[in-house]
Amino acid sequence: MKVAVIGAAGGIGQALALLLKNRLPAGSDLALYDIAPVTPGVAVDLSHIPTPVTIKGYCGEDPTPALEGADVVLISAGVARKPGMDRSDLFNVNAGIVRSLSEKIADVCPKALIGIITNPVNTTVAIAAEVLKAKGVYDKKRLFGITTLDIIRSETFVAELKGKDPSNVCVPVIGGHSGVTILPLLSQVDGVEFTEEEVAALTPRIQNAGTEVVEAKAGGGSATLSMGQAACRFGLALVRAAQGEKDVVECAYVEGDGKYARFFAQPIRLGKDGVEEILDHGPLSAFEQEALDSMLDTLRKDITLGEEFVK
Ligand code: APR
Repeated sequence: MKVAVIGAAGGIGQALALLLKNRLPAGSDLALYDIAPVTPGVAVDLSHIPTPVTIKGYCGEDPTPALEGADVVLISAGVARKPGMDRSDLFNVNAGIVRSLSEKIADVCPKALIGIITNPVNTTVAIAAEVLKAKGVYDKKRLFGITTLDIIRSETFVAELKGKDPSNVCVPVIGGHSGVTILPLLSQVDGVEFTEEEVAALTPRIQNAGTEVVEAKAGGGSATLSMGQAACRFGLALVRAAQGEKDVVECAYVEGDGKYARFFAQPIRLGKDGVEEILDHGPLSAFEQEALDSMLDTLRKDITLGEEFVK
């Protein structure tokens, strides 16, 4: 398996590369690409870690050598949110970056499984889909918005609140990957009951957890280490499924049946070719149903913005 990390010199990219260097199966190749000149050095640095994963770094204007032969491409290239920045500031820069990287992927490794981290994910995934479609290589089973950060945050916060071991807590999160579009299904956490007040407090905490980090870092960036961990978990799930492991299930933002919106985060069974089956999210509580109904306008607008951007 060859895994390419794009944006690899950044806060997320370096954390992700470190984790992958340690956790990819023996014999894997890891390729790092970033426009930043330090990137080959990041790869040399990581290459001194004694694991059976080969690593190479590339910089400059052309990602082609990193993408050549890639089975999985994880994209965190872009600018991160700073305090006071609104979502459209982020959008204007990141949309263009995702568009040009998707064009390159279409040309160089059109069969790769693509995981998008670059925000706003609700929109950047639609951009990638439209670019791949225009190039005639779009396969909706192979394109993912990585929403795993919402899941690991939910698992952590639920475990803290209920005095559980977080590694035994499983919280499906559906919808999208920003603000009200993030919907943790607290009613489906096995072995845990929440009061109405707890749900009313925990849901917005999960939705706004990114802002908690942005404010705590006081101008120094947004979530990088936890996002690196989340992207590693999802990237390894893609790799394990691609190598034939059965019953690999994760939530991710994908193009499904369009019941709620063209793209929607939901539990997915992964297989050799990406999405094998979209799983039912199960029954919703009244609170969750209302949250779902009221997010859809926002989510659909985010998606349309991406589609229009490419047109
Ligand atoms: N190709 C490759 N790398 C790029 C490109 C590009 N066209 N444009 C920017 N980059 C690189 C930068 O050089 C930088 O190293 O992307 C990296 C981004 O790193 P940081 O600024 O540290 O940002 P980070 O915190 O990693 O977040 C990156 O992920 O979650 C999202 O909202 C976040 O969109 C942001 C992205």
